[in-house]
Amino acid sequence: MTRQVNVGLVGVGRIGRLHAEHLAYRIPQARLLAVSDVVVEAAQKAAADLGVPIATRDHRAIMDNQDIEAVVICSSTDTHSLMIEEAAAAGKHIFCEKPIDFDLARIDRALAAVDKAGVKLQIGFNRRFDPNFRRVRELVASGKLGQPHILRITSRDPQPPPIAYVKVSGGIFLDMTIHDFDMARYLIGSEVEEIYVAAGVMVDPEIGKAGDVDTAVITLRFENGAIGTIDNSRRAVYGYDQRVEVFGSGGAVSVDNNYPNTAVVSDGQRIQRDLPFNFFLDRYVESYIVEMKEFIECVVKGTPPPVTGIDGRIPVVMGYAAGKSYAEHRPVRLSEIA
Ligand SMILES: NC(=O)c1ccc[n+]([C@@H]2O[C@H](COP(=O)([O-])OP(=O)(O)OC[C@H]3O[C@@H](n4cnc5c(N)ncnc54)[C@H](O)[C@@H]3O)[C@@H](O)[C@H]2O)c1
Repeated sequence: MTRQVNVGLVGVGRIGRLHAEHLAYRIPQARLLAVSDVVVEAAQKAAADLGVPIATRDHRAIMDNQDIEAVVICSSTDTHSLMIEEAAAAGKHIFCEKPIDFDLARIDRALAAVDKAGVKLQIGFNRRFDPNFRRVRELVASGKLGQPHILRITSRDPQPPPIAYVKVSGGIFLDMTIHDFDMARYLIGSEVEEIYVAAGVMVDPEIGKAGDVDTAVITLRFENGAIGTIDNSRRAVYGYDQRVEVFGSGGAVSVDNNYPNTAVVSDGQRIQRDLPFNFFLDRYVESYIVEMKEFIECVVKGTPPPVTGIDGRIPVVMGYAAGKSYAEHRPVRLSEIA
């Protein structure tokens, strides 16, 4: 076995707890040395459950710990950019959950700090590491589909988040579509230059009252000439609906949903199967493990991270372009945003 990387993790909430478990049990090249959370009981519980030596309320104890080489930031979004700056100044390599920030100037400051320190920064766009989506990317990149013409992403949540969350989420395009924006760039391998949005409130009027939409079709025009659509809903009654298709001059590839089981039941009236996964942590569990494995590997091998700081910035720009398109009823070029 190669050397181990000592890791400190900040924020042991929903996603932090999952990453902590993976670092503790599933990634032999990592050693989870410390966890921190402002709710110190959460840090203490994770430490006790996972055999982590240090639990702390103050994330600076992780930044100041000379034994820690890499920091995994899973605290609330409003803390990310500052923590990236702090971790970079302390010379730590960084994995940070998406989004880096909602404020582009703060993102730029964080990315400049990373550049200056010469540390690695990987952003948590986990869907790139889903084995099915990766296969689609490989096929497009190999040229086997010819010139990509059309991308279709269907991305629908099983149910909307609580209204209190909607109010601070940054809106559907920065909260939910942000993952699809990343997938679009990743799958086609080209930047998006223009976005047009048709959207509305069809699931819950409270989402509209909170100033957001819950249903959207987003049209993308890529620099390489391809066109794409993303369709989002905050509520698909049949589960977490995550499908993609790329159609090109040489053929097409599509990826269906993931299911808890693959049993297909046939009788005299119909052919049936169970519903797809209903929760993102179940649907994407494998991708979360692989993204963290690849982060630790890039620290060990000194290779570039597979999802960079710029990869973290561009989907935020796309989110703002989508919001502007919806508000102004017109196609918006990304160059209008930043
Ligand atoms: N990649 C993905 O699929 C994915 C999924 C879920 C969440 N996220 C992102 O991860 C982040 C966390 O989301 P979540 O759903 O786990 O939220 P959460 O509220 O469940 O967890 C956040 C945790 O961070 C802690 N925290 C807040 N400020 C802190 C600080 N200064 N120091 C230490 N701990 C602090 C909170 O007490 C809480 O335990 C968000 O930015 C979110 O966008 C990404």
